Amino acid sequence: MGSARRGSQAVKRPPEEELGLQPGQSLELLKELHILTREGRINQDSRRKLKQVHHLVQFIEKLLQEVPAEEGHPTLADHGAGKSYLGFILYDLFFRPLGRGHIYGIETRQELVERSRALARRLGFARMSFLNIAAADAAQAAEMPEQVDVVTALHACDTATDDAIAFALQKQARFLVLVPCCQAEVASVLRETKALALARTPLSELWRHPIHTRELGSQITNVLRCLYLEAMGYQVTVTELVGWEHSMKNELILARRTGQRKRAAAERLRAILAEFGIQALEERRFPGLPAHP
Ligand SMILES: C[S@@+](CC[C@H](N)C(=O)[O-])C[C@H]1O[C@@H](n2cnc3c(N)ncnc32)[C@H](O)[C@@H]1O
Repeated sequence: MGSARRGSQAVKRPPEEELGLQPGQSLELLKELHILTREGRINQDSRRKLKQVHHLVQFIEKLLQEVPAEEGHPTLADHGAGKSYLGFILYDLFFRPLGRGHIYGIETRQELVERSRALARRLGFARMSFLNIAAADAAQAAEMPEQVDVVTALHACDTATDDAIAFALQKQARFLVLVPCCQAEVASVLRETKALALARTPLSELWRHPIHTRELGSQITNVLRCLYLEAMGYQVTVTELVGWEHSMKNELILARRTGQRKRAAAERLRAILAEFGIQALEERRFPGLPAHP
């Protein structure tokens, strides 16, 4: 560890290289985030976490580079930010050298928000704000600009991902980067209408057993999210967040605004709601769908 062999001689590598850090990356930040120890050492878990965050950061950086260079932009809102590992590392590697743009962390746990605010102050990361509010209320927050370029939500609990999508639509986001967590809402509606469904269609076998209700609910949720984004003018790619081994939830939904609303996606979305007997969700979760033809 920390050395590379050249011929028979062991050559000590600088710590940044050994840790796979980018040039200029702040060791201080990584210590503050407890990824590195005070002595600058790293354990296996943190090394893995850092690798994963770097992977995602590199991916988001490419999207940020597509945002036209304008004063105050790019803007990024991270929903369910937690300790804001992603926001801080993105700021350090991209926003700080860029010298413009702003990151907004949205988080319901007050102690995490206060910690992040204090850390941003200590590091002089002036273009980071942390809002102690629910994702559902973020679009209305006075600090939030009219338009936000990139919306992220990584393992934001339950329906916070849906709230992030609603936020992105309101703020005309250019990109969404979503790694959904478990969502219980669809499963609970499936459960409520189960007796009716069992009499109506043999397909209901797919969600007859409680564990299947939960799993199918989760699958339907993400399918509906993708269709909704397509119906609202986004091109959607669904892939796996490579290297996100610490979580079972590693589905990455990437949406890019094209402005072309797909009527067929809206029709499919409604057909799925009807097939599964969960039409009650349309008004709550998909209010932007075009009216029936
Ligand atoms: C599993 S953590 C993920 C944290 C971070 N995004 C990450 O990937 O390391 C989910 C975070 O979302 C926050 N959260 C849950 N529901 C929320 C909501 N409706 N609005 C904003 N934050 C929420 C939780 O307090 C928690 O910090």
